[in-house]
Amino acid sequence: MKQRIEQATIALETARLSLDKQFYPEYHLATYAGWLNDPNGLIYHNGLYHAFYQHHPYSADWGPMHWGHATSKDMVHWQHQPIALAPGEQYDRDGCFSGSAVSHDGKLYLFYTGHIWLSDVGDDSQIYQAQCLAVSDDGIHFEKKGVVLPSPEGYMHFRDPKVWYQDSRWWMVVGARDSSDLGQVLLFHSYDLFNWSEDYQILAKTDDKNVYMWECPDFFPLGEQFVTLFSPQGKKPQNHQYRNRFQNGYLVGNWSPNQCYEVTNQFSEIDYGHDFYAPQTFLSKDGRRIAIAWMDMWESHMPSKPHGWSGCLTLPRELTLSDQGKVYVNPIKELATLRQSAIEIEPCIFEKNTQIMLLEDATACEVELIWDLENSPAEKFGFWVGNGAQFFIDGQSQQLVLARHYPEHTISDYRSAALPQTRQLKIHAFIDKSSLEVFINEGEICFTSRIYPQKNQRALTLFAINQSAKLLKATLWRLNKAVE
Ligand code: FRU
Repeated sequence: MKQRIEQATIALETARLSLDKQFYPEYHLATYAGWLNDPNGLIYHNGLYHAFYQHHPYSADWGPMHWGHATSKDMVHWQHQPIALAPGEQYDRDGCFSGSAVSHDGKLYLFYTGHIWLSDVGDDSQIYQAQCLAVSDDGIHFEKKGVVLPSPEGYMHFRDPKVWYQDSRWWMVVGARDSSDLGQVLLFHSYDLFNWSEDYQILAKTDDKNVYMWECPDFFPLGEQFVTLFSPQGKKPQNHQYRNRFQNGYLVGNWSPNQCYEVTNQFSEIDYGHDFYAPQTFLSKDGRRIAIAWMDMWESHMPSKPHGWSGCLTLPRELTLSDQGKVYVNPIKELATLRQSAIEIEPCIFEKNTQIMLLEDATACEVELIWDLENSPAEKFGFWVGNGAQFFIDGQSQQLVLARHYPEHTISDYRSAALPQTRQLKIHAFIDKSSLEVFINEGEICFTSRIYPQKNQRALTLFAINQSAKLLKATLWRLNKAVE
């Protein structure tokens, strides 16, 4: 594997020299060059946070999957590390697919899916997938240990292991598609990380007959309950819901090792934007449950591809559970270390058809706005980023809307969610070179989307259209760079 990693590193170093950085993030983790998809192996281990990711170092398109790697002291500032895994053994010949990490006895263990095309490359109907292990002493260089869990009979799509320790055992959930083409999560256990039970439980399964696969499952305690987070494939759009190519969301329920998973809250989407997929969670050093996702979507148009790279990760978000069993999602508090000095905007009433530009070049910034919903009869109010992206309250439909319009990239679409029936609405937004992440009312709703402003088209402007809107508070920060 060493040779294959060296070869990929040379390819990356060369590609980096000609990268066009127009859309390259300033404070989100992206690859040096080439392609990135799911976050993998997120973990706090021996004093550092590790983020691995699905990576194709040889082009900006998906290809034989490697694991890229970066480390951080604070989950905010990231440093690139050498590629951790390269495919090529008989059992992972065509890719080291997604997986997770555990820290044990000072070593870092990576569990991933070895992927093999049995017929043509790309023919998903004939594949073999098995769970594999690689171990490292220094957290940087990994030694592959081979397959630790072959696919059970009747399962061809069997991938994305997430491993954790609980009640004297190691547990693994794996995403699967059963012989009737229905998505589910299988649960296995082990006492030593190497030998895994052949018998398994179906922890949870789809109740939607269109859903043929659950990718990237995660299973973790939150509050007093257990959350199953996963990425279902096949869900059909329903009005404003499930509009992306694939979805992401969660179930909430009760579980203990000797008990079946009892679901108390059925499937809910966790993000309402265009680009949030395959999230994985981990514990921060002080025990908070943090999630990071791939900030893109399969089959969507990615205008950075001709620039030599594609794909980046979302900001880390802290997850909490409300008494009603709803997962709240908030940006981690450590992100405040990126802030330059705060700019306060005077509370004011936006008279009908007015706009105020807050920042001419909103390249890397954060803004917090509080609107008085009871005293804002405007038909539409919120903010624009240049002339291509807008986030607004739609008074007519009582929806929150994130809309994009980049005809030069044939991108023009919107995503929406029901407007919370609160008196005030807090909008907390992060803008980077090609992304917009919006958190509403302390994490009740969030939207994550890629945006592609043209050069000199990045003004951040507040507006109110057809009648007035009342702004109670607004604070703006420019943000420092966090990744090279
Ligand atoms: C999710 C996914 C995983 C798979 C990986 C391959 O985005 O399809 O199921 O392991 O990507 O890159």
